[in-house]
Amino acid sequence: MLFCGSISAQTPTADAGAVKAAATPSSDETWWKHAVIYEIYPRSFQDSNGDGIGDLNGITQRLDYLQKLGIDAIWISPMYPSPQVDFGYDISNYENVDPQYGTLADFDHLVAEAKKRNIRIVLDMVLNHTSDKHPWFIESASSRGNPKHDWYVWNDGVPGTGKNAHEGLHGSVVPPNNWISGFGGSAWEWVPQVKQFYYHNFYKQQPDLNWRNPQVEKAMFASMQFWLDRGVAGYRLDAIPSLFEDPQLRNNPETGGTNAQGDPNVESLYTDNLPEVHGTIRRMRAMVAKYPGNRVLIGETYLPNTAELDKWYGGAAHNELQLPMDMIVGFSDKLSASNFRDRIEEVETQVHGSQPLLVFDNHDNARSWDRYGDGVHNVQIAKLLATMLFTSRSTALMYYGEELGMVTSTPTRVEDVKDPIGITGWPKEKGRDGERTPMQWNGSTDAGFSTASTTWLPVASNYRTINVEAEGSDPNSLLNWHKELIRLRRDLPALHDGGVVMLDRANENVLSYVRTAPAGATAVVVMLNMSAQPQTVSLDLSEAGVKGNRVKTILTDEPSLKGASSLTNVTLPPFSSWVGSVER
Ligand code: GLC
Repeated sequence: MLFCGSISAQTPTADAGAVKAAATPSSDETWWKHAVIYEIYPRSFQDSNGDGIGDLNGITQRLDYLQKLGIDAIWISPMYPSPQVDFGYDISNYENVDPQYGTLADFDHLVAEAKKRNIRIVLDMVLNHTSDKHPWFIESASSRGNPKHDWYVWNDGVPGTGKNAHEGLHGSVVPPNNWISGFGGSAWEWVPQVKQFYYHNFYKQQPDLNWRNPQVEKAMFASMQFWLDRGVAGYRLDAIPSLFEDPQLRNNPETGGTNAQGDPNVESLYTDNLPEVHGTIRRMRAMVAKYPGNRVLIGETYLPNTAELDKWYGGAAHNELQLPMDMIVGFSDKLSASNFRDRIEEVETQVHGSQPLLVFDNHDNARSWDRYGDGVHNVQIAKLLATMLFTSRSTALMYYGEELGMVTSTPTRVEDVKDPIGITGWPKEKGRDGERTPMQWNGSTDAGFSTASTTWLPVASNYRTINVEAEGSDPNSLLNWHKELIRLRRDLPALHDGGVVMLDRANENVLSYVRTAPAGATAVVVMLNMSAQPQTVSLDLSEAGVKGNRVKTILTDEPSLKGASSLTNVTLPPFSSWVGSVER
């Protein structure tokens, strides 16, 4: 039963069974529908000037590696001028490069060199907030009468006393509601100069812009155009559901208990995912669509369910983001065949035929190696996840070092922590340094990342064996597994253009599916044993309208599966992956 079709004209319904597997690629398919997008945290990828911090020229030096890996686009986390309180997510100038990372000329050089290798550059755009050192905020905070005052979210507060009280224009005031910063403490910060609080969803050095002011949209769209004109292929939109807040400033409902920062747990009903944001996104899509070359808008969209995700595509109108990230599949942290089957099926069938974007790793979460690994079979488990990612019909987003099995290297002493949330939240919240350690290129000093005596974060201790050079020469390495999968995804018509139909749907341990083939090509079957026990399966391809039972192995990490020739009574060893073609 199925599901999905490639991007068929048919509108999928919530009833997965009603959707036909489409085998024919539609003619409007564009690069991003097949792409492998690779996230680079620029501080940590490659240092070209020996200061212990990665930079743009470092990325350029490593383009050959990325090309060999087979990726189509790089998303670079913010490299704009910034006080670096949140390592670039606090931007003080949207139209330049931070000197730590290089110059505009270095950026142009990177775009040009990447283009030679068919690699596109996607930038991170932080629209929800700026740095408090951005000239806009400095002006905004200088007086109530300043023309930019209304560019941020200001409030006089409400009468009150206590530890958060300040002397307002008409007596003692406290913040207007219970909104808390995702990074700890009240989301309201007092500015004596104007006798008002400003709102910040993240650190207090990241004041929220007031998107109800049309001038803000105009200025931000102009900055986006600045880089689109320089040839970027699109944007990853940071924290995009947080753009608007409730104009009535209603309290967020408290859900009981406290979080790692010691604040009450709340449901961010009035600070997140407000409907107003969709109008902005539709205008942004129209603005970006004026550029040639199918530029793409990707969203950092942590959402409660697939119905909400669909809204970010624009539902049936398909006029918002092309690729809002599905965080539900990749951040479930449960290695469960049933869960993956249900969630993947949901995103395939309940987004009006839009293209799903799957992701398992990023710079804000412990690495998938640790979230899904059992401590014993981590390599096999990482291979299972990669197989699912690259043989799915979804656009694939990966994070630097995921292809090597880089681990989360969380600091063990608070004095070593760089990420402010790890400092304020210690020891319950140790911050995000662990997933941001330098890329491991080889077994030499600093793992080939830098020549500095100290790097901004220490290189993870396993770099002598887990690195590009060592894994490159091991045919069974996780790196070569990634390379092979990415190659297959590009070269096999069924993986490139086919539909997908789940098989053996009641099986709780084995996720299996067939990628149906475009006319004249061969269907591809995938079997993934997500359990610690051997599992014997028999698959019936007729469920998917595919003829045949004879198969040939294309890729497996289990020698015993190399000779598999039928789909009847196949025994999959614990945590094994198998990909094969259906012989006609
Ligand atoms: C996003 C980024 C994260 C950053 C936050 C504030 O979630 O991914 O790294 O701290 O937004 O900009």
